[in-house]
Amino acid sequence: MEKLLSSATASHETVPERFHLPPELRPPALAAAPVSLPVIDLSGSRDEVRGAVLRAGKEFGFFQVINHGVPERTTRELEAACVDFFRLPAADKAAFYSEDTEQTNRLFSSTMYESGAGESYWRDCLRLACHPVERTKPGWPEKPAALRPALEGFIVPARSVGMELLRLLCEGIGLRPDYFEGDLSGGEVILNANHYPPCPDPGLTLGLPPHCDRNLITVLLQPGYVCGLQVSYGGGWIDVEPVPGALVINFGHQLEIATNGLLRSVEHRAVPNAVVARTSVAAFIMPTMDCMVEPAKELVGEGSPARYRSITFRDFMRVYKTVGARRESVEKAFRI
Ligand code: OGA
Ligand code: NI
Repeated sequence: MEKLLSSATASHETVPERFHLPPELRPPALAAAPVSLPVIDLSGSRDEVRGAVLRAGKEFGFFQVINHGVPERTTRELEAACVDFFRLPAADKAAFYSEDTEQTNRLFSSTMYESGAGESYWRDCLRLACHPVERTKPGWPEKPAALRPALEGFIVPARSVGMELLRLLCEGIGLRPDYFEGDLSGGEVILNANHYPPCPDPGLTLGLPPHCDRNLITVLLQPGYVCGLQVSYGGGWIDVEPVPGALVINFGHQLEIATNGLLRSVEHRAVPNAVVARTSVAAFIMPTMDCMVEPAKELVGEGSPARYRSITFRDFMRVYKTVGARRESVEKAFRI
C-alpha cells in the first residue's frame, strides 16, 4: 500500500530510485513528430466515417472520435469519480490494494508490463472487470458514492462505440459486419482507471512503458486539458492531443491477429508531467478466454498467407505474460 503514489501525504519532492529508467528508455527519447492523430466526427455519413476510420486505423492504429454518443455528462462524471477515488484516504483504498496479478479487481502501482529489471512506473491503477454490468458491479468500490453509477453509465455506451467501430472496420476491409460479435468481443471488459500524479522530474521516468494493448479494441477517456499519452509513429512519438469529450480508440493485438495484420496494434506509452495529475480511463474489450483467435479466412489466401498462429485468448495471455509488452517480442512469439 505504501507503494501507491497517490497515498503520499505530501506531493513528491524527488523521484525515488526505483522509478529511474535507463537513459535509452527515458522520455523524450525521440522528439514528438509534428503530426496529429485524426479526430473523426462520428455524426458524419456512414461512408465518410467508414473511410476515415479505416484510413486512420491503417496509418496510426489510433484515432480520436467525437459525437460518439456517450453523453458529455457521463464522461465528466466518470472522470470526476475516478479522480475522487484516488484522493480517498488510504484506509478507504486499502481493501482494493493488491499486488496479486491474478486478481482482476484491484488497486496497484506501476504496471504489469515490467521488463523484469525491477523498474517502477509513475502510475497508480484501479483495475475492474466491468462487463456485464449486473454481474461485475458488486465487485466495484463503494466509495466514492458516485463511482458505481458513473462506471455503469459509461461502460455500456462506451462498449457500443467500440462495437460500432468494429462493424465499420469490417465493412471497410471486407469482413461481414458482425464478424467481431460473439466470442471475439464477448469476454470481459476490463477498465483501467490510470492515475499519474505530478512527477518532480518527468525526464527520469515514464507513467507506462511502450506497449501494445492485449485485447481486441480499446476505448480511452483522457482529460481534456493535459497531454500524457504518446503513440509510436514514424520512428518517434506523437502526443494524443487532449480534445475535451473525445474518446481515443486503439487496436489491440487480437484485432491485428484477426485481421491478419491489416489493422495493426501500435505501441504507445504514458509520459508524466511536473505540474498536474492526469487521470485516464481505458476500457478494454476482450475475447472470451476460450475464443480461438486467428486470421479471418476471408483475409487469407493466395498472396496473403496467414501471418499469425491460431491461439486461444487464454493461451495468448499466458504467453504474453512471459514475453513482455514490447511489440517486437510479442510479434516474435505469435507470428508465423
Ligand atoms: C493503457 C494505456 C494510456 C493512458 O491503460 O493501456 O495505454 O493515457 N493508457 O493512460
Ligand atoms: Ni495501452
